[in-house]
Amino acid sequence: MDAEEIKALDEKYVVHTYARAPFVLERGEGVRLYDTTGKAYLDFVSGIAVNALGHGHPAVRQAIAEQMEKLMHVSNLYHTIPQARLAQMLVESCFADKVYFCNSGAESVEAAIKFARKWARTQGFAEKVEFIAFSGGFHGRTMGALALTPREHYQDPFRPLMPGAKIATFNDLASVEALMDEKTCAVIVEPLQGEGGVYPADPDFLKGLRALCDRNRSLLIFDEVQCGLGRTGTLWAHQFYGVTPDLMTVAKPLGGGLPIGATLMTQAVADCISPGDHGSTFAANPVICAAAQAVLKTISDPAFLEHVRWAGSYLSEGLSDLQAKYPGIREIRGRGLIWGLALDMPAAPVIQAGYELGILTLNAGPQVLRLLPPLVVQRAEIDEALEKLDGAFARATQR
Ligand SMILES: Cc1ncc(COP(=O)(O)O)c(C=O)c1O
Repeated sequence: MDAEEIKALDEKYVVHTYARAPFVLERGEGVRLYDTTGKAYLDFVSGIAVNALGHGHPAVRQAIAEQMEKLMHVSNLYHTIPQARLAQMLVESCFADKVYFCNSGAESVEAAIKFARKWARTQGFAEKVEFIAFSGGFHGRTMGALALTPREHYQDPFRPLMPGAKIATFNDLASVEALMDEKTCAVIVEPLQGEGGVYPADPDFLKGLRALCDRNRSLLIFDEVQCGLGRTGTLWAHQFYGVTPDLMTVAKPLGGGLPIGATLMTQAVADCISPGDHGSTFAANPVICAAAQAVLKTISDPAFLEHVRWAGSYLSEGLSDLQAKYPGIREIRGRGLIWGLALDMPAAPVIQAGYELGILTLNAGPQVLRLLPPLVVQRAEIDEALEKLDGAFARATQR
């Protein structure tokens, strides 16, 4: 089947929740993807921050292959070795004492919402049922997460939403203070906003949130679904800030491309959760947990994280040179290997020109071009990407 036939099948049979690129991807290797015509693309999207180790990483492939031979799925009614080991690795990597497993980012947020509510009720704070989230925040499209994702386009067709969601202004503590009261169960924030336009939190903002939550006896939830697991140059994005949450949501890169989510929490929260409170049939099956162990082990190596920081600063220097050449790039924001280029024009034509030149990029809002290369990206590949981006801006600004 050629690309046109596959696109026709897609058009006929798949519900259109995505506006798709005009080619069909068939194969991936390292930081490159290949379409059905054999054309190569430098992958500066990484499955939207999923393929942190690129495509076909040997450690991930080996872990999956070995585990598939032994056991692929059993219910969460039973213990398995890969799940127990992954839980230990995750907990030992951060502030948390316990982890709940699920299948995606949105599910990890739903779990955090439920666990925060259960914590409040167990503490005797029956009135604490509300959540504070932020302008520009993105937490997923399921009903609870959607209420905490304040964008009309996402929310409007699906009202009524979960009640009790209040929206404060990102990086503005006073706006949180104005909304916080005895009903506030938890505050949820991305330490670096991804979908909303690539905005890092100010250090004083996260520290201030911690203090406000402590004073109000509310929980603090960090959503690290996009910014976690090495993306910003530290294993967890919040480790850059020296502030810890009560709950943290994780997903995207954890399974090396297989679906897994995790909600990490302190003992105080975990103590409130009982069998039956929440659950998932597929969550953290043995194959995915074997893959996730390989991912976590690779990314947590200090030398790997050092590479991410180096590659990030090398890329950002190149992006500054690009900005000097194209004044339509108004601002460059990011850290590690997540960058947003705020443009004075729509990002779509640049993305389109990138497709023609063999580089995949994406947007974060209509006028922000977002770059999410695999964390294993090397100097020569960054040079190549910068050259292609230069070409893409030249084409897009001429059109
Ligand atoms: C910060 C954040 N939270 C939650 C989600 C939802 O994750 P998923 O698409 O796996 O449900 C996303 C997805 O982009 C995200 O960026």
